[in-house]
Amino acid sequence: MPVKRIAVLASGRGSNFQAVIDAIDRREIPASCCGLITDNPGAYSIERAEKAGVPVYIVDYAAYPTKEAYEQALCRVMEELSADLYILAGYMRILGSGIVKQFHGRLMNIHPALLPGFPGLHAQRQALGYGVKVSGCTVHFVDEGMDSGPVIVQACVPVEEEDEEETLSARILAMEHRCLPEAIRLFCEDRLMVEGRRVRILPGRTASPGNTRHTP
Ligand code: GAR
Repeated sequence: MPVKRIAVLASGRGSNFQAVIDAIDRREIPASCCGLITDNPGAYSIERAEKAGVPVYIVDYAAYPTKEAYEQALCRVMEELSADLYILAGYMRILGSGIVKQFHGRLMNIHPALLPGFPGLHAQRQALGYGVKVSGCTVHFVDEGMDSGPVIVQACVPVEEEDEEETLSARILAMEHRCLPEAIRLFCEDRLMVEGRRVRILPGRTASPGNTRHTP
């Protein structure tokens, strides 16, 4: 199976990006990472990329006069990379509909809540504020809505009595680091089939009945 080219968009710390490149290194994902794209020249994910030998593309949001100009520059970089899959891993901007349409089916996002609950910013704070007893993370294809595309992988974690935003976020993040590489692996193995809102997971070549993993 030909190795897929994947690119990651990240705005900050980049721990999910790290989980992805570590999984590639361990040969758990049949892919090569052809670039890290960031809108933030101060992002720690840049250091992670440099350490891993992944090319870095900085499209500094602050350097463009309008969102449209920024998105044009971003789109050019994405086109140049010609990746099979672009992963939003802590990319903290909403992509414009032009990019979403152009890269339809090739854009994946990770969100720190069980969608469709708590989309948008501060999902963990929203979940605590609502008083839910379980939360988790969702990996989904990107559509033109906010955190609303078809779900690929979800997993839950408990919300503990003593949780604050920080402790719940850390528990969810550990789960994100498993779910995102899993979703990318399924994509790279050509095992995701989108039917309307549902993403069907096709069996793997070596999978036997009852042995197909839908979540990590
Ligand atoms: C992650 O929790 C990710 O799910 C979240 O930002 C964090 C980035 O962490 N993304 C969103 O909230 C997007 N709506 P990381 O930079 O360490 O991967």
